[in-house]
Amino acid sequence: MKIIVATGNADKMKEIREILGPSGFDICSQKEEGLSCDAEENGTTFAENALIKARNISGKYKHEDGAVVLADDSGLVIDALNGEPGIYSARYMGEDTSYHVKNAELIRRLTDVPVEKRTARFVCAVAAVLPDGREITAEGTIEGKIGYEERGENGFGYDPIFYLPDLSRSTAELSREEKNAISHRGNAIRAMKEKLDKIYGV
Ligand code: IMP
Repeated sequence: MKIIVATGNADKMKEIREILGPSGFDICSQKEEGLSCDAEENGTTFAENALIKARNISGKYKHEDGAVVLADDSGLVIDALNGEPGIYSARYMGEDTSYHVKNAELIRRLTDVPVEKRTARFVCAVAAVLPDGREITAEGTIEGKIGYEERGENGFGYDPIFYLPDLSRSTAELSREEKNAISHRGNAIRAMKEKLDKIYGV
């Protein structure tokens, strides 16, 4: 079965290939299929937004053999900020604002929040639209705390302020492999793999 991944992000493609490839799926990017997503992400949950992207690409793929279309949506949920930035994580303070500035602002907004209330999680929803129109979603999370300063050079986005108390490191201080093994996205893709393996009898 072919899986088309609705993302333009090379790192996500690599991670999805590493996790789903061994099940024997033929994994392609939307670019390799000459497709792109032009849907507005106006859902109210991560899963809705992932489904919007997957449906958009699925609707454009015209091939008698069909394909599973996979898309993801993710973000940072901070409890002390009522879940912000949440589904607006990429758009928080504007798409073009640097993450150094966004991270500094989130730390500033948590100035008076004590360490035990700085709980946060990265959330990732993965959605799949199957050739017969069935829709499946899976979700993964990773729990952490918002730090008091940026730490680490790896990763991207909010990684430098996302601190893992058990490891005494931020997710920007983990190698790619270390992060993938425990990340929200890794967990969501692994949960989706279980569902697809069952459906396609792997
Ligand atoms: P998207 O799901 O690729 O649209 O990502 C949404 C946004 O959430 C990203 O632009 C980042 O701001 C944030 N985000 C999602 N996953 C991570 C992560 O693993 N590390 C840091 N930031 C993340």
